[in-house]
Amino acid sequence: MSDVRLIVKNARQVVQVRKYPVLKVCGEGMQRVDTLQEEGGDGISVVSNSCGKIIFIGKESERKQKYIESESTRIIDASGKCVLPGFVDAHTHPVWAGDRVHEFAMKLAGATYMDVHKAGGGIHFTVEHTRKASEEELYHGLKQRLNSMLKTGTTLVECKSGYGLNKETEVKMLKVIERARREMPIGISSTFCGAHAVPKGGHPEDATIDVISVQLPCILDMMKKKELAVDNIDVFCEQGVFDIDQSRRILTEGKNMGLQINFHGDELHPLEGAKMGAELGALAISHLEEISDSGISAMVEAGSIGVVLPTTAYILRLKPPPVRKMIESGMAVALGSDFNPNAFCSSMPLVIHLACVLLRMSMPEALIAATLNSAAALGKSNTHGSLIEGKCANMVIIDAPRWEHIIYQLGFHDNLIDFVVCDGNVVYEK
Ligand code: NIG
Ligand code: FE
Repeated sequence: MSDVRLIVKNARQVVQVRKYPVLKVCGEGMQRVDTLQEEGGDGISVVSNSCGKIIFIGKESERKQKYIESESTRIIDASGKCVLPGFVDAHTHPVWAGDRVHEFAMKLAGATYMDVHKAGGGIHFTVEHTRKASEEELYHGLKQRLNSMLKTGTTLVECKSGYGLNKETEVKMLKVIERARREMPIGISSTFCGAHAVPKGGHPEDATIDVISVQLPCILDMMKKKELAVDNIDVFCEQGVFDIDQSRRILTEGKNMGLQINFHGDELHPLEGAKMGAELGALAISHLEEISDSGISAMVEAGSIGVVLPTTAYILRLKPPPVRKMIESGMAVALGSDFNPNAFCSSMPLVIHLACVLLRMSMPEALIAATLNSAAALGKSNTHGSLIEGKCANMVIIDAPRWEHIIYQLGFHDNLIDFVVCDGNVVYEK
């Protein structure tokens, strides 16, 4: 029995997402969420072993016979409550210094994202402050932000670099992410995004060459020495930033290094970034507000996951991505917060709510997009994103009779979320 780290017992409802091990859910399949329900007072229990893996999920009556509570076991009485998988945030920029609250006023007054960027603000403003900040300062900020994410139920998050735009600061950011990966309970997928913008006064072609021949080789070297574990390669493929050809070269180089392709495409202009990504076998492409019909077909064919970011579209008042068309065409859609100094929201319950209201996703679709499919967008759905035996015991326990309350309620999620569990350890408790 010493092997049992945690017993969550007697829940009214446990949302498994899928009761069988599948790596992602495409198209219409996203309409169905598998749940286990209390029957006749016999609730549902989940047991984690000391490695943080689920070893039992089923009726409390059966649990009692198989796994007895010992002194070292943490017990959570979940009577009347719902258990959901921990949320997976598939897209964030959480390492930076210097906020951009002043730009919010400019945007409310009518400036577009690119107006601000071209005037030397936006990413450039953040780059200036991030270059000056020490590793310690950046880590302090990141830690606070990751803790906020944990409180709203995120248990696995993608974290990008991209406010350095030179070798020195990009490496500094990746080291900060690496430290969080080693020291914090939240799961992290690390992304190199040295091609997030063209450095001020620079040229896209020179920046492309710098990323390919200076930044990436240095990162590869640090990965070989086990100083960094980087999972994904990203680029901001956009008019006036990196064009299709430059993006393709950068992503290909990253792929050849063993990184997963996961990038910003078709956000502000219809450049056919989705088609280019599909040709490269991208694992995931984010934004897609301006994706074309043939871009959708190419991604479906390639099995690339579409990561949509409702808070960004909302904050920038962009035309929303055509999510209904994407799902109806058979795409696996995932969700991310895109947390960054331009779009300051890291709460996945809010992201899921906006996905339903603004992007017209159903509640099951949005939940799958924020769990199993977002884990798939990071290549981690074999271990994360659903609750079945053998997977990580990452859970959100809410004080509500049905799981849909987490979406129905707009804000004040701290009233609803009782516990957040990472690898069988309680990391947040109301
Ligand atoms: O995903 N579009 C590019 N990157 C971010 C914005 C980053 C920033 O403005 O600091 C995004 O929205
Ligand atoms: Fe982004």
